[in-house]
Amino acid sequence: MKTILVTGGTGYIGSHTTIELQKLGFNVVIIDNLSNSDIKSLERIKSITGIEAKFEYGDVCDKSFLDNIFQKYEISSIIHFAAYKAVGESVSKPISYYSNNLISLMNILETMTKHSVKNLIFSSSCTVYGQPDILPVTEETELKPANSPYGNTKKISEDIIIDFINSGADIRAVILRYFNPVGADMSGKIGELPQGIPNNLMPYITQTALGIREKLMVFGNDYNTNDGTAIRDYIHVSDLANAHISAMNYLNDKPTKFYDIFNVGTGEGYSVMQVINSINKFLTSPLPYQITERRQGDIEKIWADPSKANEILKWQPIYSIDDMTSSALNWEKFLRQDK
Ligand code: NAD
Ligand code: UFG
Repeated sequence: MKTILVTGGTGYIGSHTTIELQKLGFNVVIIDNLSNSDIKSLERIKSITGIEAKFEYGDVCDKSFLDNIFQKYEISSIIHFAAYKAVGESVSKPISYYSNNLISLMNILETMTKHSVKNLIFSSSCTVYGQPDILPVTEETELKPANSPYGNTKKISEDIIIDFINSGADIRAVILRYFNPVGADMSGKIGELPQGIPNNLMPYITQTALGIREKLMVFGNDYNTNDGTAIRDYIHVSDLANAHISAMNYLNDKPTKFYDIFNVGTGEGYSVMQVINSINKFLTSPLPYQITERRQGDIEKIWADPSKANEILKWQPIYSIDDMTSSALNWEKFLRQDK
């Protein structure tokens, strides 16, 4: 039986994508070096789907390891999540980010070609748009210079894939530009696992809701938005996971030497205050927060025009902002008991 290779599959988006793949009957093999995830993800995936994902511990930057995996399994598609993703850390450790994120991708491209595997789905980010001049952003919106080494690795990765295909490589690729993935599997048994103090809004909110953090610092309320706080297009991680499956199905009947790019968002922007109002519906007392300075490097507002993915990939998100906050909260509660 053909197998889907999920790199970074014990991580946040990779584990949710593995769940959606297994639910649809796909055979999954995960590669992960556990640099930003917990081996417990495997048990958690199994507790939801009843299926054990095959796991290969190792580094995608290790080409001979990768070569062995491609020999061992009959791989039909690769979903490449493995990368470092912390924007702030990338500023202090640029070489580590360029090296991990770019070498892993180039190894995947070379190894898949060597083994005649055709389909690649790549995790990019709406960070490539910077602060767009016109909203919502379509895939045609001009890209802005990256404002972090992490963001630059995504822009360069897109270019590497496109240049490789334009050089005549016998593969097909979909580049997905994720907006802000949040929330957790609706079972509440798996979710995001930030290390240390969370940098991102949703895990900071859920930890504050459970009293692990004293209060949420809201970074700026003087933006040009409805309530002054910054706006993002939050997308439920299980909806995002399903976009990868739609992308894989789309590639199957395409010729090789083909690539396409899609925004993956809901098309709705929510401010930080609107996210707080949403979580408050599930709390017995309102979330404590304090308005503070803007965070350096943050953009004011962004949301997607997802119509290309809706029409061409036939993909539609189903979860609301309340589903995102409540599932994230349920996961945070579960995690505190499951440590
Ligand atoms: P994550 O850190 O939870 O998952 C990434 C996984 O890859 C981790 O399990 C980590 O251990 C593994 N990994 C990293 N480098 C590796 C290597 N060289 N070899 C093997 N395993 C390696 O991150 P995530 O949130 O699931 O993100 C997945 C992908 O989506 C990343 O490429 C990320 O840049 C991209 N992305 C994430 C977001 C977001 O907000 N979460 C937004 C846009 C794009
Ligand atoms: N925010 C706060 N307080 C916090 C954390 C965040 O007010 O403690 C605000 C931010 O200022 C921003 C919004 O909440 O306005 C969302 O912030 P996140 O850090 O959750 O997300 P970002 O949009 O800044 O960035 C995330 C990822 C990037 C990725 C981008 C697009 O961290 O890697 O989404 O996918 F590129």
